[in-house]
Amino acid sequence: MEKGRVLLAVTGFHPQRWRELLSAEREVVLEPDGASDPSITYAVVWKQKANLLSSLPNLRAIFSIGAGVDHIFADPGLPDVPIVKVVADNLTQYMTEYVVWRVLDHHRQGMLYQAQQKKKTWHEPPQRPAGDISVGIMGLGNLGRAAASVLLSLGFAVNGWSRTERPMKGVSTYAGEVGLIPFLNATDILVVLLPLTAQTQGIVNYSLLKELRKRNGLGGSVLINAGRGRLQKDADILRALEDGTLKEASLDVFEVEPLPKTSPLWAHPKVFVTPHAAATSDPVHLVPIMLRQMAAYERGEKLDNIVDREAGY
Ligand code: NDP
Ligand code: OXD
Repeated sequence: MEKGRVLLAVTGFHPQRWRELLSAEREVVLEPDGASDPSITYAVVWKQKANLLSSLPNLRAIFSIGAGVDHIFADPGLPDVPIVKVVADNLTQYMTEYVVWRVLDHHRQGMLYQAQQKKKTWHEPPQRPAGDISVGIMGLGNLGRAAASVLLSLGFAVNGWSRTERPMKGVSTYAGEVGLIPFLNATDILVVLLPLTAQTQGIVNYSLLKELRKRNGLGGSVLINAGRGRLQKDADILRALEDGTLKEASLDVFEVEPLPKTSPLWAHPKVFVTPHAAATSDPVHLVPIMLRQMAAYERGEKLDNIVDREAGY
């Protein structure tokens, strides 16, 4: 196979560093250039413009800049070529750090101490062992499994929910629709690391949150969402916080991003907001993986981490 040119098509951030690094081995065309260009064989994309990819007559594969590919499926004219998602130690490490940070902060009452500090209150609430708390990970994939193993090493009880059976040593695993309620009923801190698909959109709603377990030690159930914003209903989370269904939440993703300034989530005392920053795609780590894959594909080898189109992730 001939060495093809790369189209870089991103919205929402500056593509310069990606371009420089890709240019080490490939000729790069930056969108808005490149439409219909027959010399382009690969596209590296984040929220690409609709129907751009279908205009490329010799496209061989699409590389997502992130682990999530819902932004690619949003294109109504998506061509039928392999889509490669990010699976990289660096991204996985970032997500593990985020999940462990937020779980520990809720477990060790970080929000309470912050409120106490504001009022100069010297009060020590009871502590409880990590083993008394069940962390349930919705989406036991590349990111979920890595976070689960570190949480296990810290002594937490860990549950995992996936679409298909995914056994993992030390983790109580549940699968599919039949496994969902038992999984929630055994979970104190819910960590959402699902992809956004037709099946998962809006899944984190009030009735789901109602199923979470409330351990006395923790003082109520907790939600951590670092998957996608449209997995959740922001209004349902607020309702659950108001009526005590949820004790606290850490949210990295939102139905609308950037989170509108008018959203009550910004100022809610029980919500910890981060700006979709749980695990950043760093081109220094990700571009070499993409370039290796492109070269391997041209030698006739198969691509790794191809998205299952039917499943949508
Ligand atoms: P994977 O594809 O490796 O794992 C996805 C997991 O979700 C799998 O366990 C899968 O089940 C499960 N799943 C998918 N659909 C369903 C369903 N309908 N019911 C039950 N389980 C389901 O993805 P990653 O772990 O790499 O990434 C997960 C998501 O994290 C990404 O799609 C992205 O949206 C988000 N993300 C967010 C970032 C941030 O900064 N906030 C950064 C990176 C990713 P099965 O194992 O059976 O296939
Ligand atoms: C991703 C993201 O999907 O950063 O990788 O959201």
